[in-house]
Amino acid sequence: MLFRQLFDKESSTYTYLIADINTQEAILVDPVLEQLNRDLILLNELRLKLSYCLETHLHADHITATGKLRKHSQCRGILPENADAVCADRYIKNGEILQIGNVKIKAIATPGHTNSHMAYLVNGTHLLTGDALFIRGCGRTDFQNGDAGTLYDSVTQRLFSLPDETLVYPGHDYRGNTVSTIGEERKLNPRFAHKSRDNFIELMDNLKLPMPQKIMEALPANQQCGNVKYY
Ligand SMILES: [Fe+2]
Repeated sequence: MLFRQLFDKESSTYTYLIADINTQEAILVDPVLEQLNRDLILLNELRLKLSYCLETHLHADHITATGKLRKHSQCRGILPENADAVCADRYIKNGEILQIGNVKIKAIATPGHTNSHMAYLVNGTHLLTGDALFIRGCGRTDFQNGDAGTLYDSVTQRLFSLPDETLVYPGHDYRGNTVSTIGEERKLNPRFAHKSRDNFIELMDNLKLPMPQKIMEALPANQQCGNVKYY
């Protein structure tokens, strides 16, 4: 398997390129519009055929590159089921497996940051946590029908039940971290370790974070899978 973590500095977003080296089929998870050229060049250099663009959720902080990538590569765009958008080619459900060559990607419903969110477990070893779980943090729960109690249940029941050695690859990082493990986060993540569900809800309700700068343009654009006129 080819597994590559890519970073967009402006939105601190990680995009993941995953491919089967033998069949040369590839998937991009959470591609960012401003990084379209970077991703197209890399796919071309590695002689990969983009089969799917997969989103963990509808993003509020950046516009997806899926719409543009669909035009360049005829890849299919996939969103979690119940996402508030009708533009996807396919919607993925909890437990469903997406396969490219020998690479298996299992969707794990992890709502709470938004009411429609999937984490993806790649070949049983690499967990893409989206905005449900960050390294020593987690995504906010104060818009897009987010709910702190639901996020606590998703992370503690569905992600922390995976084996300790499972690698954690988040959707964002704001402090320079790249990878962690489930064992490490269960023990050290300050949002969850030694916190009850009520403690967590209180903490999340009092974060007082500013709205993402791009929310007014990113959300409507992502509801159209990034097919926006002004780009
Ligand atoms: Fe998000």
